[in-house]
Amino acid sequence: MKNTKTSTAKAATRGGTKKAPRPDAVALLKADHRKVEDLFEQYEAASRDSSKAKLARQICLELVVHTTLEEEIFYPACRAQNVEHDDLDEAQVEHDGAKVLIREVMSQSPSDDYFDAKVKVLSEYIKHHVGEEEMPKSGIFTKAKKAGVDMMAVGAHLAARKAELMAEPPADAPPHFISLQREGDEPHAAELVKMSPVHGDNSHASKQS
Ligand SMILES: [Fe+2]
Ligand SMILES: [Fe+2]
Repeated sequence: MKNTKTSTAKAATRGGTKKAPRPDAVALLKADHRKVEDLFEQYEAASRDSSKAKLARQICLELVVHTTLEEEIFYPACRAQNVEHDDLDEAQVEHDGAKVLIREVMSQSPSDDYFDAKVKVLSEYIKHHVGEEEMPKSGIFTKAKKAGVDMMAVGAHLAARKAELMAEPPADAPPHFISLQREGDEPHAAELVKMSPVHGDNSHASKQS
């Protein structure tokens, strides 16, 4: 019998340098999910406060970037293709719930009361949300594919926006950007990531008036 694995590998490398395939939108978003799951596992295994602080910051950074990408690009693309709006509304509200915990984790340290518990509840919250997005038959990702969302075009848009969000923002970043600056020589030592407001929350506006 022909070894399909070997022949596929040979075909992929024939003709010179193999180009990495461009990931589609769902592949990119799922990769983010796996990364955050891994970070939560690392947090669970960590014992030193310094490690926990670094991991918690990284988790929050990943989550803020990921939710921003979905809210700015992926969910609107789904809405435009008439993916059930109830599902997308629910996903948005779940993001907003997570942001409340993210803000608390960002403003505290592992020596504070309830810090571990907050990270744990955040991980459970995200696990539930990710499970709903990735549910094989009825999740948003499946529905988006069925509805005809252009996964390659949206994937390219997501990748470009992610690169922007992970890079150092302009000096005139608005005050609702929160600093996720890490100690040490991390690749993006001055990361500032936009923390989008909780949807439907007008308290910020009223406080300013
Ligand atoms: Fe989401
Ligand atoms: Fe997601």
